[in-house]
Amino acid sequence: MGVIRFLGQHKGAVALVMLLLLLKAGCELAIPVLTSQIVDVGIAQSGVEDLDVLAGYKAAGVDLFPIQMAYLLRIGGLMLLAAAGSMVLDVAAGFVSARTGAKIGRDLRRRLFARVVAFSDAEINQFSAASLITRGTNDVTLIQNVCTMVMRMVLYAPILAIGGVVMVMVTNPQLGWIVVLAVAMVFAVIAVLFRFTLPRFKIMQTLIDRVNLVAREMLNGLSVVRAFNREGFEENRFDAASRKLRDTQLFTNRAMAFMMPTMMLVMNLTSVAIVWFGAQGVAAGTMQTGDLIAFITYAMVIIMGCLIMGMVSIMLPRADVAAQRLSEVLATEPTVRDPEAPTRVRSDAAAGVRITFDDVSFRYTDDGDPALSHVSFTAEPGTTLAIVGPTGSGKSTIVKLIERFYDPTEGSVTLDGADLRALSQADLRACFGYVPQKAFLFEGTVESNIAYGDESADEAAIRGALEVACALDFVEAREGGLSAPIAQGGDNVSGGQRQRLSMARALVRRPRAYLFDDCFSALDYATDARVRAALPAWAAGSTVILVAQRISTVLAADRIVVLDEGRVAGVGTHAELMESCPEYREIALSQLSEEELAEGGAR
Ligand SMILES: Nc1ncnc2c1ncn2[C@@H]1O[C@H](COP(=O)(O)OP(=O)(O)O)[C@@H](O)[C@H]1O
Ligand SMILES: [Mg+2]
Repeated sequence: MGVIRFLGQHKGAVALVMLLLLLKAGCELAIPVLTSQIVDVGIAQSGVEDLDVLAGYKAAGVDLFPIQMAYLLRIGGLMLLAAAGSMVLDVAAGFVSARTGAKIGRDLRRRLFARVVAFSDAEINQFSAASLITRGTNDVTLIQNVCTMVMRMVLYAPILAIGGVVMVMVTNPQLGWIVVLAVAMVFAVIAVLFRFTLPRFKIMQTLIDRVNLVAREMLNGLSVVRAFNREGFEENRFDAASRKLRDTQLFTNRAMAFMMPTMMLVMNLTSVAIVWFGAQGVAAGTMQTGDLIAFITYAMVIIMGCLIMGMVSIMLPRADVAAQRLSEVLATEPTVRDPEAPTRVRSDAAAGVRITFDDVSFRYTDDGDPALSHVSFTAEPGTTLAIVGPTGSGKSTIVKLIERFYDPTEGSVTLDGADLRALSQADLRACFGYVPQKAFLFEGTVESNIAYGDESADEAAIRGALEVACALDFVEAREGGLSAPIAQGGDNVSGGQRQRLSMARALVRRPRAYLFDDCFSALDYATDARVRAALPAWAAGSTVILVAQRISTVLAADRIVVLDEGRVAGVGTHAELMESCPEYREIALSQLSEEELAEGGAR
């Protein structure tokens, strides 16, 4: 079973717990023997074990009280010792198993995180972020708890039950059938519970996923929810998800609650039966009272052992579901992988890179429409290549393919002649300064966010990058300047400011190629112009791939690729495209007057 596998990696700890529990079982099983001795010898025989000796003492008129007291104290002391030993061993076993469980949890979380970080967008979307979070928290905790419990109980229960059976056989085999009957009843109850609760336990995790998913989406889009007065709708959606989870949990908990009294009933019936039939034995002289008492205790021990095994066997399948969900993630190979022997590229070389798309087609899902079809173009080292086109035409997809967040479905993307799939991802990405379309900042300071692009960047470099991105003014106006705090996701700066900081983060890297994915659209015209004016000096020698919506942004580019529905509609300079590419002319005319175009084209 899945969960047992995790324990297999901690054989030493498991063996230690087993040993501790074995000793503990010894202590616990000794107590009934001692009880029966107190009753049979201590009380009935005044503390004298041998009946003939007792008769001798009685005939001689010896005072039996001191002998009896001494016997009772001795056995009572032994009982205390056994109880104390059992407690200490229990604590020790609990300690070791909790530690082992925590280790298993930590290892799982670590492996999961490492794997998820390696995932490309495709795999993240396949699982959904919400589900990955539940798997990393809820499922791991479940496995951790079950592992701890398995170590403490599952191992202990059989030791106890078997010990109990042995003791019953030794002391009083006649009444064994009552125990057999009781155990059969325990298993019958567990089987019934199993039948009804197991399917619900299995879907519980998916329901928790669902609640998380809805909650996450609602929290992320809270302002939209408010703006459209959809609180009621969202509440209902959340309510539906949470209600389903509640119903399932209620059902399983009720079933579990029903189990305890049923088991108590079985136990009590068993003791009644033992006393009933045992009393007949005592009356007939075939059984001693102490043995009877011990027998009841052993019967309880055996039933308890079976009960624990039953409870755990209900937990195990649930933990198995969790384990399966984790191994699903762990077994998913990232689609974007490093080759065995990567071709080296130098990220620190001064010159720009040549990026070539050779007949590239790409679809996000196997059955989806192609996002790119037969795209070919080359960005020469040290030049600026602009990509324009309507939204949804595949511009961001091109940039993602260059960063190798995805691999092309057909054709190839090459960097300085080497297929991207032949390079190590770290090498490849070190060549780029990427500005995503949707700016993202990390919690920290302005400085920590810019230095994210280049850890070794000093303050001068950071200021320089901020200057080029037209961000220095507003950063200095903020309290704290470079060390002004940035909230999670960059929520405490405006969209345009966030985008400029994100550009500075790429600029400070001084990479061999800049990938600007539509980041200029978030800037006003004046800022857009200022950044573009400052960029050539900063990025001299580097290749610039510039995705844009505004024709004014791309006028000066060395080469412009016009995209339309994933196809290349034209490649050339502004002037060439105005002549040859109707799609381009249409976009251009919709944005600029003829004069502006003529002027820009001449520049
Ligand atoms: N993660 C994704 N999964 C599936 N389809 C996507 C995904 N991202 C983008 N698309 C689709 O790919 C096409 C191109 O998207 P994109 O490259 O973002 O366009 P642009 O950047 O030009 O606006 C669109 O039709 C879009 O619906
Ligand atoms: Mg885009």
